[in-house]
Amino acid sequence: MIQRDASTISLWQGNIDPFQPTLMADHTATYDVIIVGGGITGLTTALLLQEAGKRCLLLEANNIGFGTTGGTTAHLNTILDTTYEQIEKNFSKEDAGLVRESVGAAIGLIQQNIERFSIDCGFDYTDAYLFAQDDQQTEALEAIAKSARAEGINITLQDKIPVPFHFTKAYKFTEQARFNPLAYIYGLARAFEKAGGVIVQDCRVIDIHNTKHIKVDTTTGEFTGMNIVYATHIPPGINLVHLRCIPYRSYALAVRLADNAYPAELIYDMHEPYHYFRTQEVNGKKYLIAGGEDHQTGHHENTEQCFRNLEAFVREHFNVKSVDYKWSSQFYESADGLPYIGNMPGQPDNVYVATGFGGNGMVYSGVAAMVIRNIIVGKHRATEKLFDPNRIKPVAGFTNFVTHNADVVKLFFGKLFPAHKLTALAEMAPGEAQVVNYEGNRIALYKDEEGVLHAVNPVCTHMKCEVGWNSAEHSWDCPCHGARYDADGRVLNTPADRNLEHLDISHDTTKVEAHEHI
Ligand code: FES
Repeated sequence: MIQRDASTISLWQGNIDPFQPTLMADHTATYDVIIVGGGITGLTTALLLQEAGKRCLLLEANNIGFGTTGGTTAHLNTILDTTYEQIEKNFSKEDAGLVRESVGAAIGLIQQNIERFSIDCGFDYTDAYLFAQDDQQTEALEAIAKSARAEGINITLQDKIPVPFHFTKAYKFTEQARFNPLAYIYGLARAFEKAGGVIVQDCRVIDIHNTKHIKVDTTTGEFTGMNIVYATHIPPGINLVHLRCIPYRSYALAVRLADNAYPAELIYDMHEPYHYFRTQEVNGKKYLIAGGEDHQTGHHENTEQCFRNLEAFVREHFNVKSVDYKWSSQFYESADGLPYIGNMPGQPDNVYVATGFGGNGMVYSGVAAMVIRNIIVGKHRATEKLFDPNRIKPVAGFTNFVTHNADVVKLFFGKLFPAHKLTALAEMAPGEAQVVNYEGNRIALYKDEEGVLHAVNPVCTHMKCEVGWNSAEHSWDCPCHGARYDADGRVLNTPADRNLEHLDISHDTTKVEAHEHI
């Protein structure tokens, strides 16, 4: 098993051994490209650039697959969360076509990599079903189908669906796909190393200095590069993209069925948030993967309830023998519905970012890798402009932008100072957490199952919002831009790049001492 940015264990994570890099990094070399982040985006980008003749170094703060790649449900779709109709409205008909072409090419890239490098990751092209259950959903579904058909996606109306749900209308979309994401990126990592690329795990980037070359300070020493790519899901530090992306959590189960009625296809309902189902065989066992219950990170009081809701929903429709895995993971929605891929806003031209993939991270990772590879090797394509993180789109996304930032302000000035009783220190049961007022300070407390208190300063080290407890993942989550920390304040997710201030509590619980730790 490998580690992930969560305390729950995903189906993928629980069925793979840690990756062991085989090549040593050279601290005296100047790499052409330093890629930060060992998920699917970082590894795909690194491989494409290494194969394009660039000398690449990939730095991962934990282990490869630690972030959302280890927690995704790994659907590969050309039907996207942002519909083609929305893309046409927010951008143009030509741009919708370009997106359709790009995501198709990304699935093709995955298939080619699997064939070229003989990666055993359960990849299959399969059909997807999208079904509506009332008049309003039917209307929305018809609009999705119409705009997707206009982009050349093969869609047919269905009078049956492969899952036991009532429906008013359903469409089948061909040429969608699925795979095991960790098995896939392990294959990419081996191919990258074989091509001469270097992977360093347990290497957190602390700072970069961009002069003639980029000097990258890390927990394992300094590295030098000509270009740097942030493939960390959302970049660290403070940047415009943080104000243009909204973090969400999504919940997933991998269950075994008593009646073997595993659907061969990808299935989606039209709820808000929607549920999704698919089957994957891992290590010789079939699992039904079900997902949903999405909510904005840090905006849900009881995250364990999300698992309970999802399990009840799955049990209502399937004959569940056992729930073998439950996990949650994070994704970022962009303000205008398309990802931000390219030069990082406010940074020199040799600093790149890929973020805001929404619920389509698996396909957009491939799009990001191709766009960034093309920019770095000097092949300029129309996608460079379309996905440019510096684009300004005061369209539907603008509403999101304003709403989101109003929320940030509310959290700063409202949630930082609510009244809590000091007695909460003593009243917490094992497994509970709270942010309490203590001698004029706010303290985030977690009492572990052994009754030991863990205390941290709840002020997020990114832009100073107050974190809240995620009971499902035993983490402190920031509601503003999605930084997450473990119970002792260690960073799990960017954009934070510094841990929460750790507080030592004396035995009589009347004294609290603060410690800085990185
Ligand atoms: Fe930005 Fe916490 S993630 S303030």
